[in-house]
Amino acid sequence: MKWLEVKKSLPLQGTITVPGSKNSSLGLLAACCLADEPVILDNIPNIQDFRVICEIADDIGLTIEKEGSRLVLDATGITNADIDPKKASAYRASYYFIGGLLSKFKKVSIGYPGGDNFGSRPIDQHIKGFKALGAKVNFYQGYYTVEAKRLKGTEIYFDMVTMGATINLLLASVRAEGRTILYNAARDPEVVDVAILLSKMGAKIKGAGTDKIIIDGVDSLKGCTHRAIPDRLIAGAFLIGAGTTGGKITVKGIIPEHLQSCTTKLQEAGFEFEIGDTYITSSAPNGLQPIKVVTGMYPRFGTDYQQPLTTLLTRIEGNSMIVDKIFPERIKHCIQLNRMGAYIEIQDSGSIFISGSRSLHGAWVHATDVRAGICLLLAGLVAEGTTYITGVEHVERGYEDIVAAFSSLGARIKLCEDDKVTIDRTRETSVEISK
Ligand code: EPU
Repeated sequence: MKWLEVKKSLPLQGTITVPGSKNSSLGLLAACCLADEPVILDNIPNIQDFRVICEIADDIGLTIEKEGSRLVLDATGITNADIDPKKASAYRASYYFIGGLLSKFKKVSIGYPGGDNFGSRPIDQHIKGFKALGAKVNFYQGYYTVEAKRLKGTEIYFDMVTMGATINLLLASVRAEGRTILYNAARDPEVVDVAILLSKMGAKIKGAGTDKIIIDGVDSLKGCTHRAIPDRLIAGAFLIGAGTTGGKITVKGIIPEHLQSCTTKLQEAGFEFEIGDTYITSSAPNGLQPIKVVTGMYPRFGTDYQQPLTTLLTRIEGNSMIVDKIFPERIKHCIQLNRMGAYIEIQDSGSIFISGSRSLHGAWVHATDVRAGICLLLAGLVAEGTTYITGVEHVERGYEDIVAAFSSLGARIKLCEDDKVTIDRTRETSVEISK
């Protein structure tokens, strides 16, 4: 078993360069399957999800050459579109292979997508979209089979704003016949990033970044070079980390506009920022006050920030509240924080009430998803004693080297591994450790 050992540390100080966006990269990599020539992608993070994609690429005949964060992808040798269900369920965005492969291969089979464990994550909007384009979708014995002799452009209205379905339908429709219009589309920077890559490849897309995207199908797509946008979710966690630990952090290599909802809300709590063209320096030298936060889809305050934010709010005297409207079940980190001495009340509706300024102490805690891992790591940095965080595999899905990143800012953190250590996690509120 692997775990992170985090000791109470001095306030985080220094500068950190933010890597390429995980969620963007997952869409960009699938988009390359649509090209008839090699595509070069820069700034792709070397995270666990990418390693699974390389295995899937090997299986289907997609060639990926890697030099640092630069990849050359050649889709001309793809021989099949059967995605191993085990590999598909190793991460969430495996479903982008449907959008990336359907127009060329006419039939894609794939297992149920996996990913972060925070309750039900339906993909009905993806399926509805593929069907609207003319595909037949079957689910049998753990496999989805999506089949279409031809994809025909159409109008698709998403019943809720979803980044995943917007990217997937964008991928599926760029080589469909005629015009597709996506209504109520997600406006996330990651959607725009994928649309920019596809446009460089020769796709005809208008309106990405708004809630109406118009795609005119083309017969072929060419090679190009594209750089993934910086990871706004990693950047936001470091901004929050500065105030949580009482330090000062500059995140560089970012697009500050992508973090607007995060910085505005943190300013409401008392954070101070110096914002440049490609960097933000974050600190909270003059005290903090409780806030109320409701998550929403971009450009609203993102669900991915609420978990590190919870740790911050445990440090602020008074009562704060977070309502996660996007993933109401993304609240398991609160149980773990309570184990460390926090006082957080959880309501079924995804609302959490944080009674701040209780002192935290180290404990064995479990990260159920990548952002929960960061939340617990920040808690470990300010808690008395030592905190041990399991569920490291989730953290590795989002961060190339979490230990190096936080150590460079002064965190006392190390990654431990011992096959003889096991944990009985059958009881949610008390973890038993045996060695
Ligand atoms: N939804 C449906 N049906 C669908 C699709 C989505 O009901 O077919 C709902 C979801 O349940 C949710 C909302 O729509 O309530 C938005 O979901 P979305 O599709 O935008 O989420 P996702 O694509 O599954 C991505 C990121 C998440 C991030 C969310 C929200 C990837 C791989 N994942 O998930 O990132 O939290 O968008 O911004 O891109 C993370 O990086 O830690 C992470 C979980």
